[in-house]
Amino acid sequence: MTDVRSLAISRRSFLYGCASTLALSGTTLFPANAKDSPVREFKLRPGKSQILIDSEANHKTPAWGYNNTVPGPELRLRQGEKLRIVVENSLDEDTTVHWHGLRIPNGMDGVPHLTQKPIASGESFTYEFTVPDAGTYWYHPHIRSSEQVGRGLYGPLIVEEHNPINVDRDITWVMDDWRLTENYEIRDNFNNRHDMAHGGRVGNTITINGIKPSDFRVRRGERIRLRLINAANARIFRFKIPGHNPRIIAYDGQPVSPHSPPGGFIVLAPAMRIDLVIDMMGQPEETVVVEDRFYRGLKQHLFKIIYSEKVQRQEPLSSSIILPANNLPEPDLKNAVRHTVEFGGGMMGRGSGMMNMMEMMRSGKIWRINGVAATGHIMDPMLSLPLNQSTIIDMNNDTAWYHPIHLHGHSFRVISRNGQSTRHQEWQDTVLMAPREKVQIAFVADNPGDWMFHCHILEHQASGMMGVIRVKEKA
Ligand code: C2O
Ligand code: CU
Repeated sequence: MTDVRSLAISRRSFLYGCASTLALSGTTLFPANAKDSPVREFKLRPGKSQILIDSEANHKTPAWGYNNTVPGPELRLRQGEKLRIVVENSLDEDTTVHWHGLRIPNGMDGVPHLTQKPIASGESFTYEFTVPDAGTYWYHPHIRSSEQVGRGLYGPLIVEEHNPINVDRDITWVMDDWRLTENYEIRDNFNNRHDMAHGGRVGNTITINGIKPSDFRVRRGERIRLRLINAANARIFRFKIPGHNPRIIAYDGQPVSPHSPPGGFIVLAPAMRIDLVIDMMGQPEETVVVEDRFYRGLKQHLFKIIYSEKVQRQEPLSSSIILPANNLPEPDLKNAVRHTVEFGGGMMGRGSGMMNMMEMMRSGKIWRINGVAATGHIMDPMLSLPLNQSTIIDMNNDTAWYHPIHLHGHSFRVISRNGQSTRHQEWQDTVLMAPREKVQIAFVADNPGDWMFHCHILEHQASGMMGVIRVKEKA
């Protein structure tokens, strides 16, 4: 791998000023203070870096990453601890960091202009907050997200329970999907009209933790907690693990009663997380191929499970896999206020004639929420809720496309889909709506501030599918 090319690369990264982060990252991956201190400190430095996506290729990919890595370092802490993160912007442009799924104060939410001034190139900003909920979360920029996240700026944030369930291994997989050229460079056609008006920037190269999935080595009898995070701009993952019975124990960080995925399929849309418990009960030396099957007619190899000849145990563990609930406010459905939110626009949308569509394409305002196409982060709130108001939102996807809809600052229960109440009434912060689907969510608006409410297909967000929900300071 050490050829002229990689020498050129290291010279290039030196020119970009990344060399010094190497020295930094060794120490900043770990909290600065010892266990007994309640404040955990980290340093994140978004900047340019070179990553090796395919270990068999000899091309590195010029990407953007936190602390020179993709994904960025796993920030791991205990529920209830305080986090202090110094972000030093080494990019050539503004950035912010959004802590996706964490119910933290508005001023720490990382939304440019709306909750903070963008962090300019060469400047830094310190985020500080207490993490209320245990679970699997992630962080990413909220400026020009389709390009910043699309070039590799994202990382996992894991909040451990005080009494975690008993597993042999606790593994985090940050999944992504890249659009690469033959030379392993990132195609720079970000935010093109076609991606924006259709299903977003779906790529051609899937990675798990920044590399093309390699073999997943396990032992018979092992119990694995697998934390899946979808950091892709647009790709929705959908896969089965043949011959295995994975159980979903959490969505978007929030515990759910453990259950097998409906139809056996694990469906993970952008920004969603799923925690699985898998008892690996295959035979020694068995191999299991896992394929992605979301897009019709497109089968994609995901990863391969390979059993060692060694056995961990013959019978699966019998201990409980039920996670302790987080302390979320329960919406009072009987007395909740109800709002309707319509999602519209895109190709093949209803009521958008050809002229209309061309106009949308020209202006880049392709998607609408309640008739409004957002052009930036500052806008009049689409909903204004009194503090502590139990709220039901009837969301109607009046488009021909899938949309994972995310609300900042809150978790909500998904209470029904197309009029059928959901089996698990799951808490989520990002809910996938199928084309034409109607989804009802319910939550208590207990976190004051202006909160983004948007599609997490980042090209849809960039072309209008974004709004603000205001939770008023006083009830
Ligand atoms: Cu993960 Cu507003 O985003
Ligand atoms: Cu969308």
